[in-house]
Amino acid sequence: MRKPLVMGNWKLNGSKEMAKTLVAGLKQNLADVKNCDVAIAPPVMYLDFVREQLSGSAINLGAQNVDTAVSGAYTGDISAQMLKEMGTKYIIIGHSERRTYHKESDSFIAKKFAVLKENGLIPVLCIGETEAENEANQTEAVCARQIDAVLETLGAAAFKDAVIAYEPIWAIGTGKSATPAQAQAVHKFIRDHIAKKDAEIAKQVIIQYGGSVNDSNAAELFTQPDIDGALVGGASLKADAFAVIVKAAAKAKS
Ligand code: PGA
Repeated sequence: MRKPLVMGNWKLNGSKEMAKTLVAGLKQNLADVKNCDVAIAPPVMYLDFVREQLSGSAINLGAQNVDTAVSGAYTGDISAQMLKEMGTKYIIIGHSERRTYHKESDSFIAKKFAVLKENGLIPVLCIGETEAENEANQTEAVCARQIDAVLETLGAAAFKDAVIAYEPIWAIGTGKSATPAQAQAVHKFIRDHIAKKDAEIAKQVIIQYGGSVNDSNAAELFTQPDIDGALVGGASLKADAFAVIVKAAAKAKS
């Protein structure tokens, strides 16, 4: 059985004060959760601070982005080595907000995937279709293309211990989550797509669902066999709601 991963993506939210209160709430609420890996990805400015606040807890630190270069004349960029030194474990790449606002391409994201693997960090590769693509029955084609950018350059073995987050763009921040059946169908498609290259890797890869996951819809999503946790935006900013989601994953998958 795959151990689920619930990860909070704080996006561009928070302050030191907020981080302190939120982490304290999470530590209290999640002290005895087993059977579910947990991570939070605060803004990079607060990584060091949040790492200190997390001390003594099983909650992992994550980051929301990485650059492809490791060092050099790249103003404003942050490397995988720096993220590693800060104690991060899971790094989100390919989020639709970066694909859209920063014009990140599939091949650029595949390079990020590679640099994370080279540095012993775990990529959380976000994929997913727009509403228009969904309505045009392009969901599978879009997800396949986004995965193939990694599969075809790095091979299926790159997905060993990696994480995929299926996040339909129409569900992100809209309050309109995919239904459990809709999400399960896409998750199964993703797993089967990887299995065509390597069945063992496909069986172990964690596929999270993301897009308006909250404390009321999480438990039902986790009943689906190919949904291995969640990438949570808005609800990860509330300790109580995030804890309910983590506990729902731990319960459903134990
Ligand atoms: P949301 O965001 O939970 O606020 O919909 C999810 C994400 O963008 O990862």
